[in-house]
Amino acid sequence: MTTTEDSAVSSPRAAIKARNLRTDNWRRGPILTVLGITAWVAYATFRVFYQGDYWVADYHYLTPFYSPCVSTGCVPEAAHFGRFLRDHPLIPYAALSLPFLLAFRLTCYYYRKAYYRSFWLSPPACAVPDGHTSYTGETRFPLILQNFHRYFFYAAFLISVINTWDAILALHSPDGFGLGLGNLVLWANVVLLWCYTLGCHSCRHVMGGRLKHFSKHPVRYRFWTVSSALNARHMMWAWITLASLALTDFYVMAVAAGWITDLRFIG
Ligand code: FES
Repeated sequence: MTTTEDSAVSSPRAAIKARNLRTDNWRRGPILTVLGITAWVAYATFRVFYQGDYWVADYHYLTPFYSPCVSTGCVPEAAHFGRFLRDHPLIPYAALSLPFLLAFRLTCYYYRKAYYRSFWLSPPACAVPDGHTSYTGETRFPLILQNFHRYFFYAAFLISVINTWDAILALHSPDGFGLGLGNLVLWANVVLLWCYTLGCHSCRHVMGGRLKHFSKHPVRYRFWTVSSALNARHMMWAWITLASLALTDFYVMAVAAGWITDLRFIG
């Protein structure tokens, strides 16, 4: 004879007839996430393979989607770290950094939550049944690879340094030093990228993990505090940086293509 206790153990969910008991508009979040991420991926894919209008020669503006520009197809002045990758229509000019950036975002704790919920419906929202019958979590291939996020963090950190270097080099005009609206756009993007990168859960662990006494490590404690403050808004930085990356790229493309002229303050 099966007791109530037995069936509670063998059944993964409570025996509730309703599909879920939520009365709010819980579908809105996953739908907006699908639309936002799909639009961004479509734009980024187009731009990465476009292989044009990525560099403004007069002001040394380089879009982050092409940084570092390492293809032999890059304009020599835009290749701050040399050109050593074969030029091919299917190989992005920044093929050295893009896979790491993609991996960093794909394995990010926030984005995992976002696409598990919105694309895989696993589950689509709190207290809503999973769209799948079985659940293995991140214990098996391929999702066990999510554990590599801590290593992708180091790559993303390095790429943020490169983006910062690009922004410094862009303080340029044909007469020497220069400052324009493009510089403000590039710098805003760099600052936002740092807010996202330094708020990474792995960064937080690097700063303050495995310490028994914060009082004996005041510097690490200070870094950990900053990282924790950024981490509390990690989802916000994740979305803002998607927008800032696309807008920065679009601005550089618009100036490079001659659709608009850069508003200049100096030079
Ligand atoms: Fe989001 Fe590391 S957890 S970038």
